[in-house]
Amino acid sequence: MSLVLEDDNVERSQSGKVVQMQDKAELSTSKLGTKKYWDELYALELENFRRNPQDTGDCWFSDSDAEQKMIDFLVDNIGAYRISEDASVVDLGTGNGHMLFELHQTEFQGKLVGIDYSEESVKLATNIAEATGVDNFISFEQADIFSGDWNPEKYDIVLDKGTLDAISLSGMKINGKLDVVDVYAAVVEKFLKKDGIFLITSCNFTQDELIKIIETDNLKMWKTIKYPVFQFGGVQGATICSIAFVKRN
Ligand SMILES: C[S@@+](CC[C@H](N)C(=O)[O-])C[C@H]1O[C@@H](n2cnc3c(N)ncnc32)[C@H](O)[C@@H]1O
Repeated sequence: MSLVLEDDNVERSQSGKVVQMQDKAELSTSKLGTKKYWDELYALELENFRRNPQDTGDCWFSDSDAEQKMIDFLVDNIGAYRISEDASVVDLGTGNGHMLFELHQTEFQGKLVGIDYSEESVKLATNIAEATGVDNFISFEQADIFSGDWNPEKYDIVLDKGTLDAISLSGMKINGKLDVVDVYAAVVEKFLKKDGIFLITSCNFTQDELIKIIETDNLKMWKTIKYPVFQFGGVQGATICSIAFVKRN
């Protein structure tokens, strides 16, 4: 497939699909922490979707099947804490909203909301919801989850797939001093009802690191999702981890 250079960041294949010139793996990690990067990515994905409505964009961590594992976990745990078929769910840093569209295909028929600070993400996900006729069930809001003057609605389930990973690369400071990773648990708690579940998947932090970041007196580790482990030089580990936490009060 030959590619035609269109500008510095964008190429177009013969089929007309717009693709990024750089391979994701070659990007400097700090780029993933900027809103500009996400706006540009989702603007490309939106253009692709308009050309070909089957193309709803990339699914983060699809090589580990993380999204399906998170959904299976929720389905398998219906009845525990606030996990129910009509549970309200918010996906923080939802991107193209793929996980919510897939969740809606299962038993979960409650209110599903995706939040992202990228306007282009919200446009893309909203267009997909409208085109697939699920916009009565799934909605998307543009907001920075760290925005201080915001008292968000509370949900039964909060999801994060790759968002803390991206945020941790931003180097952003809250009020000019606090590291975003250090305030993330407090942000998550703002979105959660008592007995609500926070389910997070990360490839940037180990399971132990993630527990240290998220656990508070009120937000406690509940269960983990199993992934294949690798063995290297006598050390065992997994390249990705998913952990569910429960909010006690
Ligand atoms: C690695 S992507 C993951 C996207 C999606 N969760 C998925 O699994 O495909 C990280 C997402 O977090 C969003 N994001 C980063 N910082 C954010 C913030 N402060 N508030 C809301 N969304 C944010 C980005 O726009 C991007 O969509």
